[in-house]
Order: sequence, then C-alpha cells, then structure tokens
Amino acid sequence: MPESTAVTYTQTGIKGVDELLKDKGIPKGYVVFVLGGPGTGKTTLTLQFICQGAITFNEPGVYVTLDEGVTQLKVNALNFGWDLAGLEKQRKISMIDACPIRRLPGEVKIGTLTIGKREFSLVSLIDVIKKSVTEIGAKRLVVDPLAVFTLQYPGEVERRTALFDLMEGIADLGCTTMFVTELSESSIDRRYQFEEFLAQGVITMRKVVKAEGGLIRVFTVEKMRGVDHDAQPHPYKITSHGIEVYPNAIAL
Ligand SMILES: Nc1ncnc2c1ncn2[C@@H]1O[C@H](COP(=O)(O)OP(=O)(O)OP(=O)(O)O)[C@@H](O)[C@H]1O
Ligand SMILES: [Mg+2]
Repeated sequence: MPESTAVTYTQTGIKGVDELLKDKGIPKGYVVFVLGGPGTGKTTLTLQFICQGAITFNEPGVYVTLDEGVTQLKVNALNFGWDLAGLEKQRKISMIDACPIRRLPGEVKIGTLTIGKREFSLVSLIDVIKKSVTEIGAKRLVVDPLAVFTLQYPGEVERRTALFDLMEGIADLGCTTMFVTELSESSIDRRYQFEEFLAQGVITMRKVVKAEGGLIRVFTVEKMRGVDHDAQPHPYKITSHGIEVYPNAIAL
C-alpha cells in the first residue's frame, strides 16, 4: 500500500481566519510565524488558537511564554472568556513560563561542564517543549515572543541558524505551531524579515495609517505553502471575544 500523502489541516477556529485559508486551516505540523508590531494582538490571537484547539477541536495545546508571566496571561485571557487555569487542570492546555531563560548568566555550569547561555537556552527550550507536548499529547504549540530567544545571537546568520535548529528540534513532535515575532516595519512595501523565508506560513498583524487619517488594523496571510489562500489585507478587530478578521472587506 502506498503511504498516504493527503494533507490534513488544523482549523484555527478564529473568526475569519479559516475562511482566508479556504475553510481548511493550516496544514498540520506547519510552523507559522505571526508577525506584528507592539499591541497588534499577537498574544491574543495565539492564545485564542490554543484555547479554540482545546475547547472546540479536542486538540490539546502548549503555550510557551518568554515575555509576559503566566499569571498575567491568565488574567488577560479571562477578559476574553478563556479560563486558562481551568483548561490546564483538565490537561487540555499547558502554560509554560520560559521567562527565566532571559535571566540566565552568560555561562551555565552543569557538573564539570560549562555551557554557553545560547546553547543552553536552545537545548532547554526544545527540552521543555518536548516534555510538555508529550505530557498532554499536544497537537498545537505557541512560542511568544521568539525575539527573547533569537536576540541573544549577535548577527542574522547566527539568529537564522538558531531558529532553524529550534524548528528542527520540534519538527518530529508534529504540532501545528505559531511563533510570535516582532515586525519592525508596518508599511505595505516593507522589507521582508529572514524568519519569513524559513517559515511554512506567515501571518502579519499591523496597525496602518489610513490615507484619510486614523488607524486601521490589518490582517494578512502572507504565505501558506501549498494552500491557495487569500493573500489580501483584511481589517480585523480585537473584541471582547478575541480577534475577529473580516474576510469580505479589503483593508487599504
Ligand atoms: N479585553 C479586551 N477587549 C478588547 N481589546 C483588548 C482587550 N484586551 C486587550 N485588548 C487590546 O489588545 C491589545 C494588546 O493585545 P496583545 O497583548 O494580544 O498584543 P501583542 O501584539 O501581543 O502586544 P505586545 O507586542 O506588547 O506583546 C491592547 O493594546 C488592546 O488594544
Ligand atoms: Mg504579546
């Protein structure tokens, strides 16, 4: 029997997003980068992705935070109606506070071995992810934000290599993954960031100044390998239920 090569999909469950992905979602196991400026809703979107998986699609998820503490995230999530603590108790999600990685000294001593902070943080991040994913049988994974991890590396070549190593390290887990990344420019003719070439999928969330004045929030699926997706810029809102994208309206 030939091995089945049919692609299966992970529905995000986020209003409007699956429509942009031809009602199918993200191919299972893909690493998608969520790029956006400050306050564009990256954390909200990715928490929603994990909660929707746990509540609606019976897909447990692991959320690794490198920035905001888990307690704060739980408080913020409750405002959207997402009970992270309850989902954790039911082993439907796992919230991992990896912020201590930021505070590591330049070198870490394990027995007689001295390991550089960068190597240690890469290995420990992969280890903590593997352990948590296995524990709850996670099918979804988020790391928010990646910059805390990649910015330890001095140049783009090292950052690219570290990211590639991280992606390789988690590949065999098969989780559909979102990596949150800062977007340094928000204009439409911006320069691409190196992460965008490595990723199988790229979503951008931007605040853009309208020609007539005022700001508009703009959501775009920039890339999703193998999917005939809608690549137009669409308006979105952060509502009391989370992110809502409007696929029938074009922004800009
Ligand atoms: N309960 C809520 N209802 C509606 N909008 C909210 C609510 N909570 C937060 N927001 C909006 O979401 C924005 C922040 O969202 P979020 O933390 O997801 O953004 P982010 O892109 O992760 O930000 P950062 O770059 O700081 O990590 C706030 O600036 C606010 O405009
Ligand atoms: Mg955030």
